[in-house]
Amino acid sequence: MRQPLVAGNWKMNGSSESNRKLLEELVSGLETKAEVLVCPPAVYAQQVRDQLAGSVVKTGLQNVSDKSSGAFTGETSPLMVKDLGIEYVIIGHSERRTLFGETDEDVAAKFNALVDQGIVPILCVGETLEEREAGDTMSVVASQIEVVLRAAGPERLANFVIAYEPVWAIGTGLTATPEQAQEVHAEIRKLLAKDNADMAAKTRILYGGSMKAANAAELIALPDVDGGLVGGASLVAEEFKAICHAA
Ligand code: G3H
Repeated sequence: MRQPLVAGNWKMNGSSESNRKLLEELVSGLETKAEVLVCPPAVYAQQVRDQLAGSVVKTGLQNVSDKSSGAFTGETSPLMVKDLGIEYVIIGHSERRTLFGETDEDVAAKFNALVDQGIVPILCVGETLEEREAGDTMSVVASQIEVVLRAAGPERLANFVIAYEPVWAIGTGLTATPEQAQEVHAEIRKLLAKDNADMAAKTRILYGGSMKAANAAELIALPDVDGGLVGGASLVAEEFKAICHAA
């Protein structure tokens, strides 16, 4: 019942020319039952959206402000995202949390600001290696999610996506094993079900962290893994396409 979602997070990579080529190769011969999304740097959102018009691939963004407009130098408003017709925005990525000091409360404010504009948040959560080794994986992930759920309130929880990204797997070539991924995804779904069983059953939970063509099929086939949030491999058209085909 949950359509898989494969989202490419380009992070701070690309140029007008490389984007153009990557998208050209990506859409050519792409056949998948998954919903497919690419999230370029904000400055290229319009270029990407325009090139993808008429294709099945959608455009998303990597971050957003919780403010609507005003003196917030360097920020992107949810109203601007909506104005471009963009449906999805990643929030709370571990790089935003660790390199830019975003707190759970900041992420919750962004979640609400997006939902209030009809944009779907992709909420990233995940534990560090130290937290996993200390046996704290689920308490860390649960608390990251619970802050957002409490701030949102039931009326804002009709349509959102969670991306479980163990920090130790991001960009490292280390992927969670299928057992590790399924265990956390199932716990996340149980946590959501405490609030609302229907919402838990329909919310997509993506895996992220060194997902590539070679491991995507096995991960996405797991009962509670509903797709992937793909970093490095989304910059290589054939690799990303293979992940989409595996979904
Ligand atoms: O948003 C994507 C994740 O950070 C995963 O990145 O696939 O390069 O490990 P990666």
